[in-house]
Amino acid sequence: MDALEAMRTIGACRRYQPDDVPDAVLYRAAEAARFAPQGGNRQPVRLIAVRERAAKERLRDLYLVPWRAYFEAAMAGTQALGEYSSARQAVLAADEFARNLAEHPLLIVVCAHQEDLHLTDLELDRPSVVGGASIYPYVQNLCIALRVQGVATTITTLSVAAEPEVRELLAIPDGYLTACHLAAGYPADGFPRRLTRRPVEETVFLERFGNPIGASRETS
Ligand SMILES: Cc1cc2nc3c(=O)[nH]c(=O)nc-3n(C[C@H](O)[C@H](O)[C@H](O)COP(=O)(O)O)c2cc1C
Repeated sequence: MDALEAMRTIGACRRYQPDDVPDAVLYRAAEAARFAPQGGNRQPVRLIAVRERAAKERLRDLYLVPWRAYFEAAMAGTQALGEYSSARQAVLAADEFARNLAEHPLLIVVCAHQEDLHLTDLELDRPSVVGGASIYPYVQNLCIALRVQGVATTITTLSVAAEPEVRELLAIPDGYLTACHLAAGYPADGFPRRLTRRPVEETVFLERFGNPIGASRETS
């Protein structure tokens, strides 16, 4: 499988087979993912692979608190679309995923060393996002490297709300934050063939914001 196919078929996996993801598979993925770029090559990311049942149950219980609030809002927001709309089905699948969090074979907590995030946008009058740019390329690399080995993933950030409790549970030292969690495992229903995203013409512009790549190519 090439990188383009892996990216197009990665999806957020909501149901997993019970089989463990071996350390060797995780190691191989991380061995490639670590080559992600990061500000100043300061390599802030650390991963904690969680398989112990009790720890996964605690992570599930912590996750369900923000999830339930999100779920109620999402169900209310999609009510008008009808029971079988794809948006509503996606929310229901995410709810099943949440309730089964402790059953997923592998949970990965992504930590980052705070001092090694080079925050160049703190002075701007908007939320800071630059710190994440030294973390999430690694995370996506990891997801792709797992994908090519047949392992599916879902990234969650609602889980970050419980950072103090997660820090205690997993003995995360001071100075490290949690950036997201991943669920990982062999997919119960295979990988998606078609994901829903905006077309390139709506999101890639030439020279000026709003000048779509396709239209410009035709006129230039
Ligand atoms: C930054 C980020 C945060 C996310 N957080 C959650 C989460 O907390 N819970 C969840 O169920 N899915 C979460 N997701 C998964 C998204 O819901 C999913 O990627 C999106 O619905 C698209 O699904 P698809 O890739 O299967 O098309 C997150 C994804 C990203 C990239």
